[in-house]
Amino acid sequence: MFQRFRRTRLHKQLRSLVRETSLSVNDFIYPLFIRSGEGIKTEVASMPGVYQMSIDEVLKECEELKSLGIYSIILFGIPDTKDSIGSDALCEHGIIAQSVRKIKEAHPEMFVVTDLCFCEYTDHGHCGIIDDKAQSVNNDATLEISAQQAIIHAKSGADMIAPSGMMDGIIETLRSALDGAGYENLPIMSYSTKFASGYYGPFRDVAESTPSFGDRASYQMDPANRREAIAESLADEAQGADILMVKPALAYLDIVREIKDATTLPMAVYNVSGEYAMLKYAGMNNLIDYDRIVLETMISFKRAGADIIISYHAKEVAQLLAKSC
Ligand code: PBG
Ligand code: ZN
Repeated sequence: MFQRFRRTRLHKQLRSLVRETSLSVNDFIYPLFIRSGEGIKTEVASMPGVYQMSIDEVLKECEELKSLGIYSIILFGIPDTKDSIGSDALCEHGIIAQSVRKIKEAHPEMFVVTDLCFCEYTDHGHCGIIDDKAQSVNNDATLEISAQQAIIHAKSGADMIAPSGMMDGIIETLRSALDGAGYENLPIMSYSTKFASGYYGPFRDVAESTPSFGDRASYQMDPANRREAIAESLADEAQGADILMVKPALAYLDIVREIKDATTLPMAVYNVSGEYAMLKYAGMNNLIDYDRIVLETMISFKRAGADIIISYHAKEVAQLLAKSC
């Protein structure tokens, strides 16, 4: 008579009483891609169900998100013009600054996170300023403009900033810039462990941010390295990050668990574009039970230790959860 508890066919209610992890709409941050114009809502070929939207459409989208119980969004901008330093991201009239102001005005209860990077705003598509001689990103010059970008986001009313460029020293730089400008209470969610990954492919279509030369391997991490992955996140914690992140999610759940065990900070995973596209296309071709696999995937993130899930599936999950109870 051992392991009776496990062998007994549990009452449905008892099964839910003893369930170790659970999923809620409150776990999610939903990504939005914003461009200028009016009445624009263009579906992205590589990510069915994901759109580039103009601000007026985003305001309508927020209405829908609220009706689903989703109150957290992360914004990505597609500027009209791109240049070598990503000027649109450094200007109060840039696409993100404008969007945050309008969203907070129309939907003050939305929690608005801004992705802080330069790849969407530069004509070369890299995450910072390029050193012409080295043909790679100049870390320190990028830190300076990142601080400017953070202040722009803060001034326009962002509730949290999420630096995604993985520059060395970025968290310390942003924390002191924000503190200096009176934004001591603005949290920073760091893309602290970000792998150089093939899974970002579809995102680069939506954000129109494929690098025009080279790749991001000089500032993103080697997928083969576990200890380095943990050290990167812990370094960001030491610099003052409020939330750590692992990106992509699915192929890196071992890393999520290890960082979770090594920190007391909340952790996020970014369930990225390629992960979404894989399930979406398999589902559209009736190769998998899509709804079931989406929920199974989401719970695996929670089980691995994620507190927050950034996902293009968020709206679908909200609908599935609402149906199941
Ligand atoms: C910007 C950024 C990227 C993603 C989030 N922020 C692109 C990249 O690093 O190339 C990827 C998200 C996704 O694939 O869904 N640096
Ligand atoms: Zn970037």
